[in-house]
Amino acid sequence: TSQAPVIAIDGPTASGKGTVAHRVADALGWHVLDSGALYRIVALIVQESGTDPEDKGTVAAIAASMEVRFSAGAVLMGERDISADIRQESVGNLASRIAAYPLLREALLQRQRAFRRSPGLVADGRDMGTVVFPDAPLKIFLEASVQARAERRCKQLMEKGISVNLESLAEDMRLRDERDRMRSVAPLAAAPDARVVDSSTLTIEETVAAVLDLWSGLGIRNDS
Ligand code: CDP
Ligand code: CDP
Repeated sequence: TSQAPVIAIDGPTASGKGTVAHRVADALGWHVLDSGALYRIVALIVQESGTDPEDKGTVAAIAASMEVRFSAGAVLMGERDISADIRQESVGNLASRIAAYPLLREALLQRQRAFRRSPGLVADGRDMGTVVFPDAPLKIFLEASVQARAERRCKQLMEKGISVNLESLAEDMRLRDERDRMRSVAPLAAAPDARVVDSSTLTIEETVAAVLDLWSGLGIRNDS
């Protein structure tokens, strides 16, 4: 097809998807889609506007009409930089709750597919390989143990000056994973044709190298 190639990277929270997706995209000179950011933006708007999160129709309408842009690594809503606001754990948890709504997922589908542009796209999320880009030539399911992921997220938050309890973070993670895996629409799951990469004991560099090796192993020309 004439469609630009996609590398889909799915997996549970803090498995390293975002970091790895950005590095792989840099290495290949491709575009990047952080699909979780879209769910987080909707969650932030719901939270700040005092919308009832159970009101599925309104939540989906917010997703359909919101005006957001990704620019040089920043997330902009109008003139406002909301990059930091959408990273709050409360926003991530709300994102995971509303992400179970089929209407919301539907409202975000075309927006996500519009990121697919030449020379290629690295997209990370939960359903990149299963729903949004089912024809992606390379699908990665990035795993890591809850312990490794909780430690990574803890370190990440501490670097931002936010102190958290490792145990409660791990517990929140288990709950979020379970909700993401059990929901009936687009559950977190490896596509049948995904390559499972466990990064529990890998460095970021090793994980990136593994993905790039899998990509070059496919022998697809990098200029479509
Ligand atoms: O996007 P996702 O929630 O899957 O994870 P991330 O935000 O990319 O990564 C979570 C944290 O784990 C970041 O601080 C990464 O630097 C770190 N990380 C790591 O220590 N080792 C890896 N192999 C991958 C990520
Ligand atoms: O950074 P982290 O992995 O914790 O979360 P994220 O990728 O920013 O996504 C936040 C929430 O949005 C997830 O817990 C999922 O419930 C939801 N999500 C989704 O349902 N589908 C996607 N493609 C991406 C995120």
